[in-house]
Amino acid sequence: MREQEFIPNKYSNSINKGQVTWQSPSNIALIKYWGKKANQIPANPSLSFTLNNCKTTTRLEFQKKSKNSNNFDFELFFEGKRKDEFKPKIQQFFKRIEEYCPFLKDYSFQIYTENSFPHSSGIASSASGMSALALCVMSLEKELNPDITTEFFNRKASFLARLGSGSACRSIEGKLIEWGAHKSFPESSDLYGMQYEFEVAEVFKTFQDTILLVDKGQKQVSSSVGHNLMHGHPFAEARFAQAHSNLEQLKQVFASGNLEEFIEIVESEALTLHAMMMSSNPYFILMKPNTLQIINKIWDFRESTKTSVCFTLDAGANVHVLYPEKDKEKVLEFIKNELVGYCEKEKYICDHVGEGAEKLGAAD
Ligand code: DP6
Repeated sequence: MREQEFIPNKYSNSINKGQVTWQSPSNIALIKYWGKKANQIPANPSLSFTLNNCKTTTRLEFQKKSKNSNNFDFELFFEGKRKDEFKPKIQQFFKRIEEYCPFLKDYSFQIYTENSFPHSSGIASSASGMSALALCVMSLEKELNPDITTEFFNRKASFLARLGSGSACRSIEGKLIEWGAHKSFPESSDLYGMQYEFEVAEVFKTFQDTILLVDKGQKQVSSSVGHNLMHGHPFAEARFAQAHSNLEQLKQVFASGNLEEFIEIVESEALTLHAMMMSSNPYFILMKPNTLQIINKIWDFRESTKTSVCFTLDAGANVHVLYPEKDKEKVLEFIKNELVGYCEKEKYICDHVGEGAEKLGAAD
């Protein structure tokens, strides 16, 4: 679909007020999105597992304004408390999506949002948060235009979510989502994420992700700044080409179920992401000493037990431990015995591959 197809013509219904609630998950990238062009267009394609337990629940209440005004009118509540410091991000999101959702300035909104994971856990809430809000906006659009299909709904929700935060476009559906144009994925697009539609071995459909919370501190460098540092980065072109080739290889791996090859691609992607940070100008490091301790422990455990466990990282110090469901007991035992000591307050979150966002409350 092209960008223009997301611009509505006319709405058939008129709605005065209502509310809708969506619960949307986080996701963990196996092929990393790092670097972007204007308008949230990714510099390379990416692919992620949708998670199940780490999620944001957002309720959008809307009421038609009595008088027309040329501004976005909204209040934001996070975990029940007004959070004005989150407003600029939402304001920017509304501005970016206004062209595609021209009704936004006709309504006053109240946004109530909360996460299933602790706010300062270092787990980025932008993917689950922006996708939940995008879905709420789409539910209002569906009220105004009930004819839109589920396929269009999901596609546009992903398209809008991308404009809020790139990785959020991969949080609408499950279980594996591809985002970004790639020659081996004929339908793929830089504009939205899509369900991975090729063969996937059973083992990947129930993959586990235990997130070790290594450092809850505020990140020194935000993802947005990090993405921008890929402009003029000496290794940028090679990295973007590598992401294309890793995605191509992962496609074979998903079909074959070869876990050794899976591990090689996934760990290489994680370390390359951080290598890009370390070779940016200015350079920065988001891993902490305990991140490296954990990685080495995982390598030792894998070597000595021949368990197919590996790690990935996002833009932070936390470690995502990935493994097949059948090894759950063994790996959790290993985590409890050998890895929790490296986590802040011994905290970790058990998650696994999930089915995508869920609507909780209907618009009325
Ligand atoms: C390292 O989606 O947070 O997690 O588009 O600026 O909001 P913005 O960036 P964001 O970047 C995520 C980067 C990553 C890799 C990934 O999820 O693919």
